[in-house]
Amino acid sequence: MTARFLVLEGVDGSGKTTQANALVAWLRTLGRDPVHFREPGTTPLGERLRKILLEPGRESWHPRSEALLFFAARRELLHCLVQPALQAGRDVVCERFTPSSLAYQGQADADADFILDLDHLVVGPELQPDRVIVLDLPVSESLQRLGLRNAKTGKAMDGMEERGSDFLRAVRKGYLRYAAAREQQTALMDVSGMTAEQVQSQIRADLQELLA
Ligand code: TYD
Repeated sequence: MTARFLVLEGVDGSGKTTQANALVAWLRTLGRDPVHFREPGTTPLGERLRKILLEPGRESWHPRSEALLFFAARRELLHCLVQPALQAGRDVVCERFTPSSLAYQGQADADADFILDLDHLVVGPELQPDRVIVLDLPVSESLQRLGLRNAKTGKAMDGMEERGSDFLRAVRKGYLRYAAAREQQTALMDVSGMTAEQVQSQIRADLQELLA
């Protein structure tokens, strides 16, 4: 059984965590041994950088400075957790990876090139995800879901969420561009108006061949 590196992507509120949890449960029923990580975070350094990056009301930084911090968290996660898990034959389900950096910090072409260079240096060819699943949602629906979630948990918007709808629209565009340029390795799923169960069935169908 080959261990697989599976990445879930999408704008804030697209349901990555729910889908990642369901995916992990399904992989277990297949007799596989998955681990579940999220970016930025999971490692001690990643969680510290997460606090800094997502602090509500923080000043804005240059996208490349931000990208470097996300990549520091990424390197730590890869080195400490992803690589050892894959080597031990365990599947990795990761919420967000380099595609997030491209969509959020790489909106200008020159910044996207910088991020691709960083990906080459930090991730390299051997640790690229086997599959990236992008959960696509119109921005109005994403904002609505975020509002509902934050009202339910009592959580205020974080430093990325408070950038507003124009920024999120650009993020979505970044994901669509990413998926269009990498049709082989990426599944773009329109999850608008779908239940979590429906989305999960699509994800499972998409992964069937890779996991066979
Ligand atoms: P998180 O709460 O994990 O996302 P979600 O709301 O989807 O559950 O927040 C992570 C935030 O960090 C999210 O707004 C996207 C942003 N981010 C980047 O801007 N660049 C990156 O490289 C990564 C990994 C995340």
